[in-house]
Amino acid sequence: MRKEIKKIAILTGGGDCPGLNAVIRAVTRTAILQYGYEVYGYKFGYKGLYNNDLIPLTLETVSGILHKGGTILYSSNKDNLFDYLVEENGKMVKKDVSDVAVENLKKEGIDALIVIGGDGTLTSARDFARKGVNIIGVPKTIDNDLAATDVTFGFNTAIGVATEALDRLHTTAESHHRIMLLEVMGRDAGWIALESGIAGSADVILIPEIPYDINKIIEKVKEREAEGKLFSIIVVAEGAKPKDGSATVYKIVEDSPDPIRYGGVANKLAVELEKLVKNHEIRSTVLGHIQRGGNASTYDRILSTRYGVKAVELINEGKFGNMVCLKGSDISYVSLEEVIGHNKYVNPNGEFVKIAKKIGISFGD
Ligand code: F6P
Repeated sequence: MRKEIKKIAILTGGGDCPGLNAVIRAVTRTAILQYGYEVYGYKFGYKGLYNNDLIPLTLETVSGILHKGGTILYSSNKDNLFDYLVEENGKMVKKDVSDVAVENLKKEGIDALIVIGGDGTLTSARDFARKGVNIIGVPKTIDNDLAATDVTFGFNTAIGVATEALDRLHTTAESHHRIMLLEVMGRDAGWIALESGIAGSADVILIPEIPYDINKIIEKVKEREAEGKLFSIIVVAEGAKPKDGSATVYKIVEDSPDPIRYGGVANKLAVELEKLVKNHEIRSTVLGHIQRGGNASTYDRILSTRYGVKAVELINEGKFGNMVCLKGSDISYVSLEEVIGHNKYVNPNGEFVKIAKKIGISFGD
């Protein structure tokens, strides 16, 4: 017979993302109002689980947080408890300390754990599920690069911010006849650039999945000039790369499960374009963490709420080891075993790239 659930806990891992608080709120409210569970939150992701640093979550704690970006539980993108930096005999060494976490859960009487995160965080969730912990995953990332769900929460807010940035850049581009580049996030996936580029009326979209040729970008600028359009807007995914080169690495975060941080491609490209395009001034803008911060969009508030409610329903049904997901218009779930290692990238021959090309957007290919 299944053990009766009394106490559940939540943790948020990886980079912050609009909608995290909406999930925390939906989980807490559903757990308390529908099932009478006690709810706790571990602070700073898996680090809190290791340090047994947890706080009670009540209807009051989660009041007023639905729209707010960030996470009231704080987060960490470094703490993989299966490969964790600890001090041993005066030296820092990496060790599997996951048993400490399992013991902490037992000690506190936590019957089920909801883990909200992207690839790295969910990999550990899968590994804890393999160790017998009652886990439910919730997919978060502005990058929208998890194949197991049609949409991760946070993505919609990010493309909204990027689209607004493109709208704003248009006014300066047009007034000064400039070429304006906007660098957006997304790691190795070009979703943010692609969708904001279509919505924000970009002339060129550069994504990691379609390596670019600078001459093709110049061709597009010239084509526009011939039509009397003396400015151009280029949206560049941070992971975009030239045909004969590689992505621009900004820094390596040694103790992160995903250590490479991209950044700087738009500026690099702006400098190269300046040398080749004579009659325009060129400027680049890096949108950076602005696309990850601030209030969640209406869509993300609703998606996060649906995910949070579903996560608690799965706990009630004893369907552990799964991640909630969106399939078409329905909320569903998928085994964590099928989530990890399956990333979703832009298909260069897919519908979105095709429609963008049909309306004249160049991908620099
Ligand atoms: O995965 C989300 C994301 O914002 C990526 O788009 C970006 O490459 C990365 O995280 C940035 O990470 P950090 O906040 O550690 O700089």
